Amino acid sequence: MSNTNHDSTGVEQHHKSQRKHVTLFSNRFTFILAAAASAIGLGNLWRFPSLAAKYGGGAFLLVYLLLVVTFGFTLMVAEIAIGRRTGKSAIDAFRSFGQRYAAIGVLTALVPVIITPYYCVIGGWISKYLFTYLSGGGAATADGGGFFSGFIATSGEPLGWTALFVVLVMLVVGLGVEKGIEKLNGVVMPMLLLFTIGISIYALTIPGALDGLAYYIIPHLSDISIATVVAAMGQMFFSLSLAMGIMITYGSYTSRDTDIEKSVRQIEIADTALAFICGLMIIPAVFAFSGVEGARQAGPGLLFITLPQVFAQTGFATVLGAVFFFAVFFAALTSAISLAETVVSFAMDRFGLSRRKAALAVFVVILLLAIPPTLGFSDWGAATLTIGAAQMSILDVMDFISNSVLMPLVALLVCLFVGWWRGPDVVIDEVKATKSARFASEGLFKVMIRWVAPLFLLIILISSILNGLGVVSI
Ligand code: PFF
Repeated sequence: MSNTNHDSTGVEQHHKSQRKHVTLFSNRFTFILAAAASAIGLGNLWRFPSLAAKYGGGAFLLVYLLLVVTFGFTLMVAEIAIGRRTGKSAIDAFRSFGQRYAAIGVLTALVPVIITPYYCVIGGWISKYLFTYLSGGGAATADGGGFFSGFIATSGEPLGWTALFVVLVMLVVGLGVEKGIEKLNGVVMPMLLLFTIGISIYALTIPGALDGLAYYIIPHLSDISIATVVAAMGQMFFSLSLAMGIMITYGSYTSRDTDIEKSVRQIEIADTALAFICGLMIIPAVFAFSGVEGARQAGPGLLFITLPQVFAQTGFATVLGAVFFFAVFFAALTSAISLAETVVSFAMDRFGLSRRKAALAVFVVILLLAIPPTLGFSDWGAATLTIGAAQMSILDVMDFISNSVLMPLVALLVCLFVGWWRGPDVVIDEVKATKSARFASEGLFKVMIRWVAPLFLLIILISSILNGLGVVSI
């Protein structure tokens, strides 16, 4: 029996159950859980609160929500449908439509190569905090930033924690035991949700926090600038795990029984709800401790500075901190695993390597690439770059290049590919291939993928690049 057939548009479709090493998700629920486990991570806990605090609170929140239900929805549907239709991961998925599209897949594969190393640097910081709380020294972290900046300003220790985190991630990926870790997710994710809700409620009782709540949820339209939109767009891609190939890969593991539209809505709700709660946990508190100026100057350290202060007020900081950072550690680990998994699967596909060899090669590359963003806060601290009005550390620069430049570029190419080069039916037919699926938002999808998304993404890209070149300052 041949395991290849051609669908109505002439695209080769592999009979997925016969793909080597690939098992399909058994049902919609396991698919949503895996996608949510990839989506929910440091993007929600570490990146979202500091960006929201910095870019006007409510203004950022509003822009972010609008982007999730329009751009995020459109792109996630497109990526999952492309994956399911071709039964392949990004590079081969695009190539299967014709050699001239292969470059889109290659560019997509480049994004996680940049993100994984610095993601592991933050993973290392989390590990350090977990260890500090577990060994009873958590109180020291609640000094308003001194502990954190002192820690990242040394070079040996952060490097060691980063290396440890990379080793853990690559061990799981190399041994191919993600499934076990994902089972753990079923326990850790609800725990994380419970904790973030509990801590948020407590944080709101800190004197002055209610003003912070108002700052976080009431949008002031005058706070919305191009910079807000660029930041929110990058955050949306990062948080929903878009423009990186992972949703294409996961789409290729799903069967046609899975309703893509419904699944996407549920993944978005889970990811966005958690991001919102993480904001509640941190922004009103940072506001109470250091006012609106403190919030606007927020940097990536917020999770490591504000939360320990909240914990310290409770009287059982050690236990709270230990359990909380344990949950964050696993959320970060599962996301890092799915990031690294994309890089490893590309290496396997491209160079025909075995899983172990690919994992070893990727391990070395990620470890080396993680050195500059770590040392950027200590020995190489002088190597800050001025982008537009902002002074950026090496970690910030990697974050900016991947989230504000490469991801919008990949997303733009996906829109052009689906909207114009192949036609939206390449996705719409796939969504409707599920018997019960209606594709209620088909109209929105078409307008977004052909017109609105490409236009906006082009504007974002141009302004990001001009900003990067110092031509304008956003
Ligand atoms: N979405 C993850 C987060 O918010 O932390 C980061 C991420 C994981 C992005 C895996 C992409 C990916 F493939």
